[in-house]
Amino acid sequence: MAASKSKETAKREADRVSSGIPGLDKLIGGGYIVNDIYLVTGGTGTGKTLFCCQFLWEGLQKGEKSIFFSLEELPDDVLHDAAVFGWDFQKYISSGMFSIEYQDPFEMVDIASMVREKIQKFGAKRIVIDSTSIFGMVFEKEHELRKSLYNLIKQLKGIDCVVLMTAEVVEGSKGLSRYGVEEFVVDGVITLASTNVGGEFFLNLQVKKMRRTPHEKGLYPYEISTKGIEILSSK
Ligand SMILES: Nc1ncnc2c1ncn2[C@@H]1O[C@H](COP(=O)(O)OP(=O)(O)OP(=O)(O)O)[C@@H](O)[C@H]1O
Ligand SMILES: [Mg+2]
Repeated sequence: MAASKSKETAKREADRVSSGIPGLDKLIGGGYIVNDIYLVTGGTGTGKTLFCCQFLWEGLQKGEKSIFFSLEELPDDVLHDAAVFGWDFQKYISSGMFSIEYQDPFEMVDIASMVREKIQKFGAKRIVIDSTSIFGMVFEKEHELRKSLYNLIKQLKGIDCVVLMTAEVVEGSKGLSRYGVEEFVVDGVITLASTNVGGEFFLNLQVKKMRRTPHEKGLYPYEISTKGIEILSSK
């Protein structure tokens, strides 16, 4: 019994996928879990897109295929921003390991099926969807928006990948995402926040939720430098 338990534990550990953010994996029990969907949420400019690029870049270094679905920024802008950190995604596009897909928000008729199909065809292991906040521009009726978002998340379950989705939160809002659907349906939520202390701004990360794993719950300061995001101190 004990032997089979430790086998299971070993398998779970092997299934962990590194975040690419120095200092983060140990806060989340060793890394992300395959088949889980995570929400990276925070105010504007807190580093959500960067956080996701770093995750994909890490995967590419390990030979894992990845796709970035950009619903906001044009692919060239994302690639250009990433290049500033020394991440040459273009090289991996050429070698067929990486794909960046731009989806015009106003043509998002059935984004869920489109995304699922592309992931399966490409054989990607790491997926990013940036950002779910754009859904609000497309759907006039709130129930339609929630339904579409819920359907997208459902379609991303069970496809043998780790998925990071971003959501912008409005400054001062108490919610974790703009529409309040994402945080309940996803398996984990990581928040990035900028706090003003006496006119100085500090960035901190918090793991709000992480299903099926023990995780740290405190606020962890992080910095953005020329190397990307890094957790400054982790107990
Ligand atoms: N070399 C750098 N050194 C320090 N900070 C940097 C550097 N490059 C970018 N940044 C910070 O990263 C932020 C941009 O990160 P990113 O685009 O990932 O944020 P975001 O949360 O996705 O924003 P948005 O709400 O616009 O989508 C910038 O606002 C800037 O503060
Ligand atoms: Mg962004």
